[in-house]
Amino acid sequence: MISLKVNGRDISLDVDPDTPLLWVLRGVLDMTGTKFGCGIGMCGACTVHVGGQATRACITFVRDVEGAEVTTIEGLDPEGNHPVQEAWRDLRVPQCGYCQSGQIMQAAALLKDIPAPSDDDIDAVMTGNLCRCMTYPRIRRAVREAANAMKGN
Ligand code: FES
Ligand code: FES
Repeated sequence: MISLKVNGRDISLDVDPDTPLLWVLRGVLDMTGTKFGCGIGMCGACTVHVGGQATRACITFVRDVEGAEVTTIEGLDPEGNHPVQEAWRDLRVPQCGYCQSGQIMQAAALLKDIPAPSDDDIDAVMTGNLCRCMTYPRIRRAVREAANAMKGN
């Protein structure tokens, strides 16, 4: 048995410890907000937080997150109103939307580590999150808007 804490909930699962966290989230826990893109850690679609750090769930074995706090897009904010999510809505960032939960999780981790990021900081951290719809300019603006909103809190 593997014990996980996902979005604040303690969960025990009978799964192979070498199962990627992404498969457990999507296939076992039915949390499909976290997306499968490349499966090799190269696109960022599967980004979740482990212990508050942005983590690629597709290349993270479930055994490696035993006991750690895992947060998915479903748990970032109980109402879906994290400042990053609000900025994303305000600026209508998504196009097809496929990459966006990963983008939001990456951006939320960025703003926790760097509350007032420069454009260079944003580009450096967000560069590993690919968007085939090329929403990058809106992502950058939304990260800035979320940073401003969080400063005001
Ligand atoms: S699906 Fe995990 S980085 Fe692409
Ligand atoms: S919004 Fe379509 S891949 Fe990013």
